[in-house]
Amino acid sequence: ISLKNYNTFGIDVTAKRFISVDSVYQLQQLLKTEKDIFLISGGSNMLLTKDIEKLVIHIDINGISIDNEDDNNAYITVNAGENWHEFVLWCVGQNYGGIENLSLIPGNVGTCPIQNIGAYGVEVKDTITKVEALEIETQKLVSFANDECNFGYRNSIFKNEVKGKYIITSVSFKLTKNEHQLNTSYGAIETELASKKIEKPSLKNISDAVIAIRKSKLPDPKEIGNSGSFFKNPVIDKSAFLELQKKYPKIPSYTISENEIKVPAGWLIEKAGFKGKRFGNFGVHEKQALVLVNYGNASGKEIYQLAKKIQQTILEQFKISLEIEVNIIK
Ligand code: EPU
Repeated sequence: ISLKNYNTFGIDVTAKRFISVDSVYQLQQLLKTEKDIFLISGGSNMLLTKDIEKLVIHIDINGISIDNEDDNNAYITVNAGENWHEFVLWCVGQNYGGIENLSLIPGNVGTCPIQNIGAYGVEVKDTITKVEALEIETQKLVSFANDECNFGYRNSIFKNEVKGKYIITSVSFKLTKNEHQLNTSYGAIETELASKKIEKPSLKNISDAVIAIRKSKLPDPKEIGNSGSFFKNPVIDKSAFLELQKKYPKIPSYTISENEIKVPAGWLIEKAGFKGKRFGNFGVHEKQALVLVNYGNASGKEIYQLAKKIQQTILEQFKISLEIEVNIIK
């Protein structure tokens, strides 16, 4: 079958064999005999560059349960196949706080811990209590507590030490009730709330603001294929940053530690002249240079070539190596 509708980049490659699983039990049974597998969930963080020969397993395990509630918190477990944004909207509707800044992020709940999704001043790691996963080799369910996940900026144990060894089946969250610690520190949120004259924002106001900001900058994968940020924002030495700043006084930055500065990859790519550049069926998004887009029937290989060209240019122009965030399937 074609995987076009299973990846947000809309890349048309085929899978020889494909199965959707809707329960942990079904997955366990399948893994007893199938050893050569390729997992697909929301398909929102991958670039497919070739047909898949392995058995493609689509994780479609759904369900949300409230494990416990007290005056201040709600403890929720969500199965891996639930759509992330729908879960966020459900929480906002229940008045459960903590992930409203992560509205409209594509993908499913089961993959949110892998790259520790983050936006507008919030990272999902701050609300996750545990991640449950199936060990592929033994088909046993294993639980990773938050501190065992080694969360970092766009990073976790699932991208490193245990990569390819587990399939995440559910994620548990601790969310707030009543007393919400809203995060409105991100400039664009403040601006959006001010433009709506909202002084005491609710969870819904924040979620709506984030949705409006994202819609204004990021392409909707249903209309233009993409995987969000294609690169990570690089962290560089302070000395290297100060050199750059001499040449580019307006370079935006965030301090990470005494000697480390993070610079937005989008800014570097824009400065290098790629923003809005279109090469036939693919290109760099016109409103956010960090996002590569598929306008039609582009191949994954073409988009990957463009990514490599961008990396090379940024290295030559700024002496910075950009790390690709999206999984390249080659
Ligand atoms: N910028 C440019 N040109 C561009 C894009 C950005 O000059 O084309 C500058 C902006 O002016 C701003 C700075 O770069 O000064 C930061 O831009 P923005 O706020 O849009 O955020 P970002 O650093 O480019 C990160 C995440 C996004 C997330 C936003 C908001 C990464 C790799 N990306 O982008 O995540 O939504 O912050 O918090 O950390 C995603 O992962 O798919 C994603 C969209």
